Amino acid sequence: MGLPKPRLSQTVFGLQFANPIGLSAGLDKNFELAPLMRSVGFGFMEGGSITFEPCAGNPKPWFHRLPADGSLVVNAGLANQGAERIVARLQAQTVLPNFPLNISVAKTNSAQACSTDAAIADYLGSLKLIQKSGVAQLVTLNISCPNTFGGQPFTTPERLEALLSATDTLNLTIPLIVKMPNHLDWPEFCQLAEVAANHQVAGLTIANLAYRDQVKLSQPIPITIPGKLSGRPTLARSNQLIGHTKRHFGDRFVIIGVGGVFSAEDAYTKITLGANLVELITGLIFQGPQLIGQINADLIKFLDCDGYENISDAVGSNSLMLN
Ligand SMILES: Cc1cc2nc3c(=O)[nH]c(=O)nc-3n(C[C@H](O)[C@H](O)[C@H](O)COP(=O)(O)O)c2cc1C
Repeated sequence: MGLPKPRLSQTVFGLQFANPIGLSAGLDKNFELAPLMRSVGFGFMEGGSITFEPCAGNPKPWFHRLPADGSLVVNAGLANQGAERIVARLQAQTVLPNFPLNISVAKTNSAQACSTDAAIADYLGSLKLIQKSGVAQLVTLNISCPNTFGGQPFTTPERLEALLSATDTLNLTIPLIVKMPNHLDWPEFCQLAEVAANHQVAGLTIANLAYRDQVKLSQPIPITIPGKLSGRPTLARSNQLIGHTKRHFGDRFVIIGVGGVFSAEDAYTKITLGANLVELITGLIFQGPQLIGQINADLIKFLDCDGYENISDAVGSNSLMLN
């Protein structure tokens, strides 16, 4: 965990975060690694995505490394043990002080959860279990998982409106975050965020995986390798959307910035564009767990350089620079 760094600690969503760097969804799908993730220096973590029913995921292989592009092709298809078992696991664990747990909830990847009503009921089933058990401090709706069975993701204003009208009826007592797609241009993205702004949504995670036609890779990926892209190919759009969201919505949402973070500079860029918190996963997979301590140590140097006492002073300081 290293020594505490008071200059990196902040209160966000009414919760204490020891530092702004968290694990992004997809590595600890069944919440088996929370104590380890705290020990390697993360300030919080997003586990899952979990779904109401257990799911075996897509046929393997799920991942394909693209080292030259700092990216993974991801096609896991929401493999997880299901909400009931995962919530029970968390109930049996000791609460980790100062380490907010964020559960990512997606809709079950199955033919049964394809219709809009069934998909919404599926999300609500998981949210109710989480709410009742009190095992998490934050919950995220993954509306943008691109690798699921049939149906439409909830990434149109109409469908998001239907989903969030339903989640409002739960009157959740923990903050609800929406994980936004990476592949939309700002006008379309803004329409979705406007919908979220009219509901009980405290934060936006910006953003999910990139679509393959969004970016130019050093080598084309054969079509026999299905999936969407993590890491560096997500970076530019993620930063652009964070900056626009901060500028347009001010403090309406807490922004969690994710996509292509491999260094303190990458994390600090997202913070100055408007993210209070930053998550990563591909950086950890490529560079190993020492990356987290390194990023946190180097963030202090950026604060020194810019004359900020605390990391929260840097949030959004650069959001007006973006076109
Ligand atoms: C192996 C892997 C699995 C992922 N699974 C999920 C998931 O289950 N739910 C989700 O919301 N995002 C998932 N993602 C997307 C990441 O959480 C993140 O939004 C994206 O990879 C960009 O961050 P990065 O560049 O740090 O990887 C996954 C990413 C990877 C690399």
